[in-house]
This record gives sequence, structure tokens and C-alpha cells, in this order.
Amino acid sequence: MHNLELLPDNRDVPIGPEETILTATLRQHIPHVHACGGKGQCSTCRVQVLAGLEYCSPRNPCEQALADRIHLPPAVRLACQTTTTHNLRIRRPILDNLDIELTRHELEHPDQQLGTEKRVAVLFSDIEDYTSFADELPAYDVIHVLNRYFDVMGEVVRAHHGYISDFIGDGLMVVFGLEHPETAVTDALAAGHAMMRQVTTLNAYLQQMYNRDFHVRIGLHYGPAVVGHIGGRGFRKLATIGDTVNVAARIESANKVFGTYFLVSEAVVEAAGPALSVRQGFLAPLKGKKGLHRLFEVTPEVPPL
Ligand code: FES
Repeated sequence: MHNLELLPDNRDVPIGPEETILTATLRQHIPHVHACGGKGQCSTCRVQVLAGLEYCSPRNPCEQALADRIHLPPAVRLACQTTTTHNLRIRRPILDNLDIELTRHELEHPDQQLGTEKRVAVLFSDIEDYTSFADELPAYDVIHVLNRYFDVMGEVVRAHHGYISDFIGDGLMVVFGLEHPETAVTDALAAGHAMMRQVTTLNAYLQQMYNRDFHVRIGLHYGPAVVGHIGGRGFRKLATIGDTVNVAARIESANKVFGTYFLVSEAVVEAAGPALSVRQGFLAPLKGKKGLHRLFEVTPEVPPL
């Protein structure tokens, strides 16, 4: 056993030869922030090595990649990736009362902890011409209609193992694959078709009440994302973060450009295989993304006779 002299806590923490600094501090119930769960994919567990850097294990490739990306000086090490063969003097730079409380909360609620990388299908939807619809109607009617719409869509999403991650005005962000990763894409595609079918049912009501129809636009992408709880103490919710989410949102917006209603990425087409019927492809720039991206329009389902 060696010793970590830990500042600003002013604690001595024993550390075994194969143990990382993070494992040693957490074992002593020190609220050491570790947002990615010790996977070397964030920088929140970083420590500054004040004495003994030469005894620390060299940076492994994942720590080196992160250090290069955010320009960490050599003496700043990821606690979850670093072991030592001698005593060290280290300082945790991320330490304020809020960090301490949030980290304690995470340690006390392991079910709500940190983030996990998953492969998910992310679906964004919105309603065509919603703004003009909302402008023309009293606000109470808009809320009434949106509640009916979200209720119907919520049923569809649940029936296909999806999770509504966000309501954005008239839009929805839905994540598939959290509990059934093997069917993430097929569930999302089936849900997209079902959303379009169900909105035609709702349209009978909208026609009668307001002489209007809703048309849903959908964008779908498949890829890795980090899923974790965000929020403050007492109001946390499951969130999905990452490029897959951003791309899915941009694909949904591309429907406006191409005059389509259901666009998916190449990753979706590849994951779905021949069962998915697409009728045309586009090479499209996506706002905020480099290069051109291949998108496909999903063939609308033939309504049952
Ligand atoms: S906890 Fe994320 S890199 Fe150490």
C-alpha cells in the first residue's frame, strides 16, 4: 500500500499497487466527481499531481486522446486511469459544495448514476405548419389539441418500446433501444409508421373541430449516444446526449427542404436491412455538420383496406 496525500481535503488515502486513484478515493467515501463512471471519456475526475508524477502509470491511449483533445498539462491526470508505484501528493481541482452534493447524490442513487454509452435509434418528429395552426387558434384550443396529439403519440411510442425524452413545442424526441437494443431500429421504424397512421385518425377530429389536418414529419438516425440522468437534486430525468441525437434532429429538419415526411439516415437503412422499403435517396448537407449525408425517404405504408 502507498499513500495519497489528497488536497484540498487534507486526507491521507491508502492506495494499492493496481488500484486507480479514483477507486482509492471513492473507497474512502470521498465525493470525487467521475461523470463517465471511470471510462476515461470525460475530464471530471482529473487530479493535479503535485509530487510523485514520475511514479504514476503512463497515460494510456484513451487518457492520452482526451489530454490531447482538451490540452491537459502532463501533471493533470485522470484519476480513473492512473495508478502509482509510490506515494503521491495530489489536488482535486473540481471541488465545490455543489459538486460534493451532486456526487454524494450519485453515490446514494446508483440507479440514477452517471451516463452509459448505448446504441440507440433517435426519432424526432414535428407537425407540418404547426406555427400557423397555433397562431390561428386560441391558446386553450392549442393546448387541448396538443394534449390529444401527444396522448396518441405516447401510446404509439410505448407500444414500440420507445422512451419520450423531450417535448419541444409540437415536436417529440423519442429514443429506442434503451431496454430492447436488439430491436431499436425496427421498433423506431414501426413507431414512425404507426405515428403517421394514428395522426390520420386524429385528423378526423381536427377536421370536424377546426377544418385542419396534421401531417407529421419524422427524422430517424441510429448510432451511439450517452444515456444518463441530468437535472438537479429532486428533478432528474433520463437524457440522451451525443452526435446521434443532433444528427437525428437535423434529419427531421431536412424534411422541410425535400418536401418529405419520413427521412432516415444511411445507418438506419443498413441496420434495418432489406425489410425496409425506401423510395428515394438524397445527398444532403446537415446544418452544423461537415460534408454531405446520405438520407433516404421511407416509403409510406399502404393503409390497410
Ligand atoms: S471519470 Fe470520466 S475520465 Fe475518469
